[in-house]
Amino acid sequence: MKKLLFFSNNKNKIIEIKKIFNNFNLELLSLNDLNISEEPEENGQTFEENAKIKSDYGFIKTGIPCFADDSGICIESLNWKPGVLSKRFLNKFKSNEACFDNIIQSTKKNSKQNAYFKTSISLTIKDNQNVIFNGKIDGKISEQAKGGFGFGYDPIFIPKNYNKTLAELSTQEKNKISHRSIAVKKLISFLSN
Ligand code: IMP
Repeated sequence: MKKLLFFSNNKNKIIEIKKIFNNFNLELLSLNDLNISEEPEENGQTFEENAKIKSDYGFIKTGIPCFADDSGICIESLNWKPGVLSKRFLNKFKSNEACFDNIIQSTKKNSKQNAYFKTSISLTIKDNQNVIFNGKIDGKISEQAKGGFGFGYDPIFIPKNYNKTLAELSTQEKNKISHRSIAVKKLISFLSN
C-alpha cells in the first residue's frame, strides 16, 4: 500500500483528515506515527510558501510523499491582516475574547466588515516538485463573539449567506463549507486522478 505523510501534530486536524482518507487505498501517516517532533520555521510571506516549507521538509526528512496545510484569517479592517500571522496575533492578547473585542472594535470604527479564511495545502511528491491546492471562505466579522464549536477565530466569523458564526455551526456543517475542506477536496481529487 502506498504511503502518504500529513505533516501535522495537530490532533483535531489529523482526526479530520484521517476520516476523509478512510476510503482511500493508501496508508496515511502523521508526524506522531513517525516520532517526528521538529518542525521547520514558518517564515514564508504567504500561506502557500509556509505550506511548501512544511511539505518539502517532511518529504526530505522521510522520503515519503508529504502534504502540509497552512491557514488563517484575513480581515478588511486590519488591511487584510493577520493572514499568515493569525496564530501569533491571537496569542498576543491575554485571552481570545480580548482579541475578538479588538477586531470587532476596529471593524466598527472603520465600517469595514469583510473577512475571509484561507487554507493552502502543499503536496511534495519528489525533490523540488510540489503542487498547491487553495480553499477560501468569504464572510464578515460579527457584531459580537458567539458560539462554542470550532476553534480560533470561529466565534467572530459569519460565512457569506449565513446568519450564524462558524462557532455556532456544528463541526459537520462547518466542514461542508470551510476553507480547509475545499482545499482538501482538491487534494483528494488530484490524488484520485
Ligand atoms: P493553521 O495554520 O491551520 O494551524 O492556522 C493558524 C491559525 O489560524 C490558527 O491558530 C487559528 O487561529 C486560525 N485559523 C485557521 N483556520 C481556522 C478556522 O477554521 N477557524 C478559526 N480559526 C482558524
